[in-house]
Amino acid sequence: RIAGPSGLVIFGVTGDLSRKKLMPAVYDLANRGLLPPGFSLVGFARRDWEDEDFAQVVHDAVKEHARTPFREEVWRQLAEGMRFVPGEFDDDQAFKTLRETVDALDTARGTSGNFAFYLSVPPKFFPTVVRQLKRHGLSDAPEGSWRRAVIEKPFGHDLASAEELNQVVHEVFTPDQVFRIDHYLGKETVQNILALRFANQMFEPLWNRSYVDHVQITMAEDIGIGGRAGYYDGIGAARDVIQNHLLQLLALTAMEEPAGFDAESLVAEKLKVLKAVRLPADLGAHTVRGQYAAGWQGGEPVAGYLEEDGIAPDSRTDTYAAVKLEVDNRRWAGVPFYLRTGKRLGRRVTEIAVVFQRAPHSPFDTSDTQELGQNALVIRVQPDEGITVRFGSKVPGTSMEIRDVTMDFAYGESFTEESPEAYERLILDVLLGDANLFPRTEEVEESWKILDPVEGYWDTHGTPEQYTAGTWGPKAADEMLARDGRSWRRP
Ligand code: BG6
Repeated sequence: RIAGPSGLVIFGVTGDLSRKKLMPAVYDLANRGLLPPGFSLVGFARRDWEDEDFAQVVHDAVKEHARTPFREEVWRQLAEGMRFVPGEFDDDQAFKTLRETVDALDTARGTSGNFAFYLSVPPKFFPTVVRQLKRHGLSDAPEGSWRRAVIEKPFGHDLASAEELNQVVHEVFTPDQVFRIDHYLGKETVQNILALRFANQMFEPLWNRSYVDHVQITMAEDIGIGGRAGYYDGIGAARDVIQNHLLQLLALTAMEEPAGFDAESLVAEKLKVLKAVRLPADLGAHTVRGQYAAGWQGGEPVAGYLEEDGIAPDSRTDTYAAVKLEVDNRRWAGVPFYLRTGKRLGRRVTEIAVVFQRAPHSPFDTSDTQELGQNALVIRVQPDEGITVRFGSKVPGTSMEIRDVTMDFAYGESFTEESPEAYERLILDVLLGDANLFPRTEEVEESWKILDPVEGYWDTHGTPEQYTAGTWGPKAADEMLARDGRSWRRP
């Protein structure tokens, strides 16, 4: 799978995402030989830069963040196709220049009119940028070529704003021209969920309400909000990652086998699950939000959220969120899915734990031994990628003592192949026009329908509970599970 003649235009090229993820991903793809020789990269931003200044910024970003070694010849070839267009999003002259730049690249680099426009900009600018693309003839592909729009999250901040954005985007682009990024779908371990479930025989028979007690999906981060106050404040943890990443993980874990591995079939199944998701009636008892207070992380003192630069001292933004969801269908009725995420937690880990019911009866006398845990299958999304199965086993010795043990699959041990970074995979898929790993409009809207009532409830009920940085979140989150007779795993 090698991309054909093409180019990528990035709006918001001076942002963090562009520097840390997009530029390095482009270089890594080139380095792996997956981009065509004439591939071109155009930056658009409000900076007084020449092409060379832009190339220098990309160079520094690549040196700092690329995963593959720096190779002068790969860099030189890529750098020859770099252009910069200075301007504001509402500046017609700048878009005229962009159009000329893109056309000139077709001649100079053989991009054949194939361009993807990556909107790495806050959602309030989406309408302006897509309309400008239309107005200047950039969204219409010349005969025999393609034009695509890549849209970063957040896609709105609730259902109504997402619908509005969708409407504007679809005034200009057809659904199959639009690629919405949820970078979790680009992760190798996330794609493996479907392989685990549907390429094997031994898991799927147990993957239902008859055997599963509950599912825990955790996305814990040790970092705080860093320099992202402007984006994060007022958005919070639930909108930032539950609405997209965690609900996508839930959908992949809970969905039925798709009719095929094409985008249509995948969307159809994910959508069915998202539509079947039900919030508990008592949101006060089954949702929790928190905000980190000063504490310690990695042996260093760290500031609380309210002391971070750019955060209002009375901000009520959640940096931790947990919700209990049910999936109302025959497979999952009565099985809770607990989702949680937070910044400044104990450590960085994302995992999906499918926790099984206890054996219906035990012939062993376990009264004087430590109580056995429940069997669990844990998909370790990151950072220690793999899968763990936990089960009870006889302790060697003369008595019949049972203890929990684990069986591990680790990517690093089983495969010599390296996992591509999520953004590499996704950018390549955009250039190939492969939409399997991109959520569709309907999924985004369905996910907002799930989250909106929670946010609405939080708006009118209390404030987030403070938790000490470096711990596992607010006490209320533990109480939420304890009420159901369960507890959170300590990854
Ligand atoms: C982003 C969120 O989507 O995902 C960030 O906006 C978060 O707040 C990031 O830090 C985490 O991504 P990853 O790949 O490091 O788990």
